[in-house]
Parts: sequence; C-alpha cells; structure tokens
Amino acid sequence: MEDLDVVFTEEQIQKRTKELADELYSIYGNEEVIFVCTLKGAVFFTCDLLKKYPGDAILEFVKISSYSGEESTGRIKMSLNINEENIKGKNVVIVEDIVDTGRSLKYLYDYIKLMNPKSLVTCTLLDKKMKRIVPFESDYVGFEVDDLFVIGYGLDYNQMGRNIPYIGAKKKVKKPSK
Ligand code: IMP
Ligand code: MG
Repeated sequence: MEDLDVVFTEEQIQKRTKELADELYSIYGNEEVIFVCTLKGAVFFTCDLLKKYPGDAILEFVKISSYSGEESTGRIKMSLNINEENIKGKNVVIVEDIVDTGRSLKYLYDYIKLMNPKSLVTCTLLDKKMKRIVPFESDYVGFEVDDLFVIGYGLDYNQMGRNIPYIGAKKKVKKPSK
C-alpha cells in the first residue's frame, strides 16, 4: 500500500470510541443491547466499541457491500445472519464504518426496523455528510470526514488496507507549479 496521509490516528480513534461507548451505555444502562456489525469494514470499530462498552452486549454480523474500487455502485448486496426472532423486542445498534451516499445504512435500517426491535439506532465511525444521496443521518457519529477516499482500521480499497491501524487517505497528487 502506498504512503497515506494520516486522517485520524489510533489514539484519536480509541478516544472517540470510548466516548461513543460511554454515550451508548448512558442510554441503555443495564438493558441488553444487540450490536449488529456490518462486515467487513466495521469489524475493527465494532470490536473496539464493544470492548469499551460496560453493559450487556450481544454481537451479530451482517455482510453488506455497495462499493467497487472508489465508487459506490448503488446496488446493495446483503447477506444476513440475523432473523426476526433475535431482533423482535430488543434494543439494536447498527455499527457501520462509514456513511457515504447513505444507501447501505438506510437499506439495513429499514430492513431491521421491519423486524420490530424495541429500539433501533445507528452508530458510524465516519460520516461523509457532503456525499449523501439518500437522506439518512446516523444517530451516533465518530468523526465527520471530507470527500476523501479513506483506508485503514477496517476500511479497504479493493479489499486491501484494512489492517492499517490508523485511518489514512491517498496522498493528493500535487499539480506542478508554473
Ligand atoms: P454508502 O452506501 O454509499 O453510504 O456506502 C457506504 C459503504 O461504502 C461503507 O460502509 C464502506 O464500506 C464503503 N465506503 C464508502 N466510502 C468509503 C471510503 O472512503 N473508503 C472505504 N470504503 C468506503
Ligand atoms: Mg461498511
């Protein structure tokens, strides 16, 4: 993987993740919560969030994808590992890596909502607000990001770069000065 500009350091990510875990715990307290991790991008964030969450937590996974390279294809592919019996009457937090056009999270939110959870919120590490096509705002956001293609801490470029421990962006090509 080429050199990246650091966008968020490991320390910044861990500090913000702890704040989000505390905020969620202040809402649910001793009630059980199902955290639905969207594979593959949100896996690092979900693990860190759950390790910092002091309450009763159940971990589930769904696989959802809409990207090819740096572009959203607009077509959502989803494979679910959850069903209505697990979700009905439960507090559910969908954990996402990044919201871009909003299509993936809106799709998943609407899908799970039909399973009649007791409550349903979304928590995303990153939010590219200016790229939204489908109007959808995450309830909890780690950081807002500019219109950059970011890699690392679970986020990939054609499946590579997920294991970079911080969040970085491809270096901008400098235009030659005249
Ligand atoms: P959306 O459906 O357009 O909101 O796309 C959200 C999904 O696209 C995220 O869950 C990511 O998996 C992927 N994605 C969007 N932007 C980026 C990026 O900058 N880097 C890596 N993956 C991205
Ligand atoms: Mg994702």
